[in-house]
Amino acid sequence: MIITLTTNPAIDHTVTLDALVPGDTNRVVESRSDPGGKGINVSRALLELGCESLAMGFVAGARGRFVEHALREQGIYTDFLHISGQIRTNITIQDRKHNTTTTLNEPGPRVEAQHVASLLQRVKKQLSPGDWLIIGGSLPPGVDPGFYARVITLAKGLGVRCVLDADGEPLARGIAAQPYLVKPNRLEVERLLGRMPKSREPLLEAAIRIHEAGVAVVVLSEGYQGAVMVTNEGTWRAYPPAIAAVSPVGSGDAMVAGMVQVLSQDGPPEEALRLGVAAGTAAAMTPGTLLCRQADVVRLLPRVQVRRIPRGDRTSALAGAAPRPHR
Ligand SMILES: Nc1ncnc2c1ncn2[C@@H]1O[C@H](COP(=O)(O)OP(=O)(O)OP(=O)(O)O)[C@@H](O)[C@H]1O
Ligand SMILES: [Mg+2]
Repeated sequence: MIITLTTNPAIDHTVTLDALVPGDTNRVVESRSDPGGKGINVSRALLELGCESLAMGFVAGARGRFVEHALREQGIYTDFLHISGQIRTNITIQDRKHNTTTTLNEPGPRVEAQHVASLLQRVKKQLSPGDWLIIGGSLPPGVDPGFYARVITLAKGLGVRCVLDADGEPLARGIAAQPYLVKPNRLEVERLLGRMPKSREPLLEAAIRIHEAGVAVVVLSEGYQGAVMVTNEGTWRAYPPAIAAVSPVGSGDAMVAGMVQVLSQDGPPEEALRLGVAAGTAAAMTPGTLLCRQADVVRLLPRVQVRRIPRGDRTSALAGAAPRPHR
């Protein structure tokens, strides 16, 4: 079973305009509301890739009930803990003329310590050995930045593989608990390491460092430039096909879904990377928070280039960072 955990779900409301004029009345051409939040997005992308999942986390208020209902309608299992207040509505404004995406994100309801304890109990009940648990996204007010580290420790103790997609302190502390897979983007890596390593291949060296910290599969994504992956079996770089990008929002979530789809069926890591990149690229082709479409993923998959980086190159990437010896 694949379980996704979203502590700060949202309704993602996307409006498309011909051109956004600040301070004026703007006419909406298209609008849609989707259940959102990182874990929920991964569940939605998994469904598009033909994979069942169980979505867990906190929900609150009428908007929370909408999220639960919409997910069930789509065929995603749910087991949410209801708390007081109201979940966030995040607004994405898609401007066709300027091809820009503007987002307005609310903080979410305050979560009490007893709710955190109840959620951990609930997650514990659902987990069985061999399961996959996907966690990530911003934490709501009241939840400690060490939360993901706690979840990872709990899940690992039950024989569950954890996938973490977070930022800042929750990511740093999460990595210290050694999840199975992490997928930060370039900016998140920069924040994690303070600055990019000085090397001919900074992203690759960063991935090696995170792998050496005890994360089995490290995938670092950099938008249209693709991704690097370091695992015990080897190192790879993946290049997406050139596409007409509409909105990169949700690319990372689709990428995580693609990777987990393959890895949870014991597929090889390079094929996981290929599907991850195809799904991420497909998500960049859709407006707002709309995720990947299955037909796009199928069409893009054979056009993704995945190259193994020989061990020698890995060493030279590291050597580039080291002080040069005097001759
Ligand atoms: N413009 C693009 N063209 C082609 N592929 C893309 C583009 N943007 C994203 N992708 C694909 O999606 C993957 C993940 O994208 P990205 O690095 O932007 O993730 P992210 O910043 O975590 O996204 P998110 O907004 O979901 O958090 C990339 O590695 C790439 O394969
Ligand atoms: Mg991301």
